[in-house]
Amino acid sequence: MRNQPSISWPASDFSRIPFAAYCDPAVYEEEQERIFRGPTWNYLALEAELPDEGDFLSTKVGETPVVVCRDSDGVLHAFVNRCMHRGMLLCRERQGNSENFICPYHQWTYDLTGQLRAVPFPRGVNGEGGLPEDFDRGKIHLQELKVEKFKGVIFGTFSDATEPLIDYLGPEVVYEIERLFHKPIRILGYQRQRIFGNWKLYNDNVRDPNHGGLLHMFHATFGLYRLSQKGGAKLDARGRHNITWNSLGTDDEKTTSEGYEGTKKVYKPKFSLNDMSILQNRTEHPDDVTLVILSVFPNVVFQQIANSLCTRQIRSEGTDRMELYWTYYGYADDDEEMTRHRLDQANLVGPGGLISMEDGEAVELVQVAIQREQDKHAMVEIGGTGKIETQKSLVTEVPIRGFYSYYCELMGFPTGTEAAAE
Ligand SMILES: [Fe+2]
Repeated sequence: MRNQPSISWPASDFSRIPFAAYCDPAVYEEEQERIFRGPTWNYLALEAELPDEGDFLSTKVGETPVVVCRDSDGVLHAFVNRCMHRGMLLCRERQGNSENFICPYHQWTYDLTGQLRAVPFPRGVNGEGGLPEDFDRGKIHLQELKVEKFKGVIFGTFSDATEPLIDYLGPEVVYEIERLFHKPIRILGYQRQRIFGNWKLYNDNVRDPNHGGLLHMFHATFGLYRLSQKGGAKLDARGRHNITWNSLGTDDEKTTSEGYEGTKKVYKPKFSLNDMSILQNRTEHPDDVTLVILSVFPNVVFQQIANSLCTRQIRSEGTDRMELYWTYYGYADDDEEMTRHRLDQANLVGPGGLISMEDGEAVELVQVAIQREQDKHAMVEIGGTGKIETQKSLVTEVPIRGFYSYYCELMGFPTGTEAAAE
């Protein structure tokens, strides 16, 4: 039996996050069951990565290795990446094309629908050894996840109780995905990043529009994102997903200077770059939105920063360890120059990105500071502690409260049962 974690959320408005939630191994274990194998849709891959029959790739749902493939009829499948024989990791390649999956250990062979097709020496040798007479190969099938896709984005779920994908995403997220994937895409490349911090700290980070204009001084200094700009955070009806957005060039010097008054030492409005092209936004949409950080519970972020587009998949690896898997893309009809621009701008993000490197560091430094403070709490009050709903300002962290309202629901954690310890 699993060791049931018992963490009380001290405030029913989710304005306090117990640090134990980021550190307790029992919580982490339970999350693998209740969140990643629970009634959630987990991002798996982009359809553009698997254009042909026989294409496959390795991915993760939480800590579970998963393989996604396109069978000979063009149908997408997702399986736990584990041989049904003795539990060996079936597919060790990151990506490829094959007619089948052959387990390296004993060469049990599965077709692209996950059906066991062949076992070496099934009848042994000279009537000795081999599989028993009643062994039914037809009944052996890789453990399959239910798969749904929307606009070329592939999601999977372990649970039969999960609502249809479109309902899970909700109209706000559906709108943003349709906007970002408004025409066929082309994969440009990948980056992987190990962050020594809890996977939820990264979810907090991307639901925190406030930090975007503070931690990231490149953003603030060069105007890609400032708290004084037009922007906000759109939440779905349940508050579990978030869309942070802004429009560059919508602030004025007075509001900006006043707002950053206390941070004068780091905000240097006079700074410049020798080559400003990395900041250039080439309009691609009828709206004036130049940045979108769309976070879908529990494991994916979709990014538009000017013309840099990517997905960031969150892969938990323990209480204090996660991998962030970045998939960069452009549109299939981009010319070479536009592709170059997107790749140049990709330098803003990723493990060593001019903006994103600070996020990994922030997550790690929180983890270090809270490890021995598990009876204490994080305070989440910016934007108010009222209703969890869409925010018209970037100076807010309400979407974090939204994340934990749904998280606690799935985890079965009691809320508001004790006063916040302050
Ligand atoms: Fe950030």
